[in-house]
Amino acid sequence: MSVSFNPRHLAQFIREEEFAAIYPQVEAAHAQLEAKTGPGNDFLGWMYLPRDYDKEEFARIKAAAARIREDSDVLIVAGIGGSYLGARAVIEAVKGQYHNDTEPGVKIYFCGNSISPTYLNSIIKVCKGKRFSINVISKSGTTTETSLAFRVLRKLLEDEVGVEEANKRIYATTDRARGTLKQLADSQGWPTFVVPDDVGGRYSVLSAVGLLPIAAAGIDIDELMQGAADSMERFSQLSPDNDAYKYAAARNILYRKGKSVEILECYEPDFTMMNEWYKQLFGESEGKDNKGLFPASCIFSTDLHSMGQFIQEGARIMFETIVDVKKPAEDLYLEPLEGNFDGLNFLAGQNMSIVNRKAMEGTILAHTDGGVPQLLIDVDDLSAYNVGYLIYFFWRACACSGYLLAVNPFNQPGVESYKKNMFALLGKPGYENLTAELEAKLK
Ligand code: PA5
Repeated sequence: MSVSFNPRHLAQFIREEEFAAIYPQVEAAHAQLEAKTGPGNDFLGWMYLPRDYDKEEFARIKAAAARIREDSDVLIVAGIGGSYLGARAVIEAVKGQYHNDTEPGVKIYFCGNSISPTYLNSIIKVCKGKRFSINVISKSGTTTETSLAFRVLRKLLEDEVGVEEANKRIYATTDRARGTLKQLADSQGWPTFVVPDDVGGRYSVLSAVGLLPIAAAGIDIDELMQGAADSMERFSQLSPDNDAYKYAAARNILYRKGKSVEILECYEPDFTMMNEWYKQLFGESEGKDNKGLFPASCIFSTDLHSMGQFIQEGARIMFETIVDVKKPAEDLYLEPLEGNFDGLNFLAGQNMSIVNRKAMEGTILAHTDGGVPQLLIDVDDLSAYNVGYLIYFFWRACACSGYLLAVNPFNQPGVESYKKNMFALLGKPGYENLTAELEAKLK
């Protein structure tokens, strides 16, 4: 099985009867999703997207990606949140964190995901003198971080190659019909791709939002979608054996027992951005109405040397969900060393993945002894197919989990608060009344 939930280490924390007791609520959540009667039901476009996606646009995405790979040394992807994390997560999981150094062809960099001038200057340095294209991604078309980075890079592109050529090198992914970015794109003749109306940012990686950068990175998006489609077939079925729902049930049972933090963990550093994607998916979906598990993440064994102490012996507020990648993209055979000066010959004569696995097994046992529940998600490998599979697994689990928590898993009203204050402090027209009030608070 490509992806499965493995409750092997949970027995001392959750009894079978507890799974049985929460199951009627899982059934209710499933019914709400399928009948589209729950809160946020206008944002359920992700549910059958791996089957019902726009095939004509999919072909255009592939053609645009092929063109970018042919005419560009660098692709700059400008976007934030749901318009950023998924694409980067899939690219790094499948191609590796150092794909720009290890893979031939176009280099992919992300910007518009902060307001750091230092970061943007680095991106400018990366682009200067190179043949570069830009994919600007914003559903609203008005997100400050993205718009700011895009205006700077568009100017750089126009200065380097002229307006006419620049217009052939800008790809806009935005709302089908509305918004300033859509208007601008149409007026300049940029190719445009659609963020579907009924798909929220954190559920958008398998739309053009993620697919264009992912395809430009040379990843087989047919494989990615096939994995997601097979996952959709499996995890859309109501059953006590539905692993996505079982995972959702387990995290809610633990939440109700006072565990307030979930740490998603993986022993593959290439999973780092998948962790970030998961944090947005679950954090924005569940963290509202003063409720929700706080989604945290670690890469092990790296973070065992920083967070390990707390997890082993600190406040007992968390459980861990380990994404167990069964097969690394590349293994490394450990040769015996003459003289054994580092004392590591006991590790030699086997693949390094075995050492990584023993570290994982030892940590699971130690943390279980420390009273931290261990959930496992088994994944065959980080191929495009299995990453697509995993994405849909998390989507289903998250939607079900949100309904179990009795929140609307598809809105994010809290994200607006910082924007309002930032605009007032920057003197944006229309925010004058708030400016004085906030400045007084900062004195
Ligand atoms: O999940 C969300 O809705 C957010 O994270 C958005 O994706 C993010 O704020 C970017 O929005 P936009 O695509 O409108 O620029």
